[in-house]
Amino acid sequence: MVVPLPRPIPPSIDLRVNGRVERLVVDGAVPLLTVLRNDLGCNGPKYGCGLGQCGACMVLVDGAAARACAIPLAGVAGREVTTLEGLGRFDGRCASADELHPVQKAFIATQAAQCGYCLNGMIIATVALLRRHPKPTEAQARSALSHNLCRCGSHLEILAAVQLAAHGMAEGASVSNVMP
Ligand code: FES
Ligand code: FES
Repeated sequence: MVVPLPRPIPPSIDLRVNGRVERLVVDGAVPLLTVLRNDLGCNGPKYGCGLGQCGACMVLVDGAAARACAIPLAGVAGREVTTLEGLGRFDGRCASADELHPVQKAFIATQAAQCGYCLNGMIIATVALLRRHPKPTEAQARSALSHNLCRCGSHLEILAAVQLAAHGMAEGASVSNVMP
């Protein structure tokens, strides 16, 4: 009879997600996306290609857009991870936002979705863009989103949402108040 050896327990990793510190006992090689969705219940980031190519899984890491499917958990230890759930004012680790971020409001106002699967990545990429360029040109917006795939062809509405969000944030106004 073969007695299986006990599996080694991985060391714990402290992960900062949406302003809270989570102590996880997970293999550091596991993709961040898997931990967010399976262990922390953050289902904003989507699993698309799993290869770092489509952008559906994007999160902010220290304020920069990053592809959570392609980052091992150990790679973000001690860094600030923000998911879609953490963009607005939120109550709890990954609770639904009770007040949406202006970029989220702009995407709703422009109806920039068909199936919506790409929107997590589009919104995260837009938030990161507007941090770098508060008033992006169309070329800058196209470039920032050029590696986020939308299979439904909602690109024109998405670009309109970027400009609406930029305008609303520049004015400090509710996006709903700047709609024509
Ligand atoms: S699922 Fe991460 S880039 Fe496609
Ligand atoms: S709205 Fe369907 S993939 Fe973009």
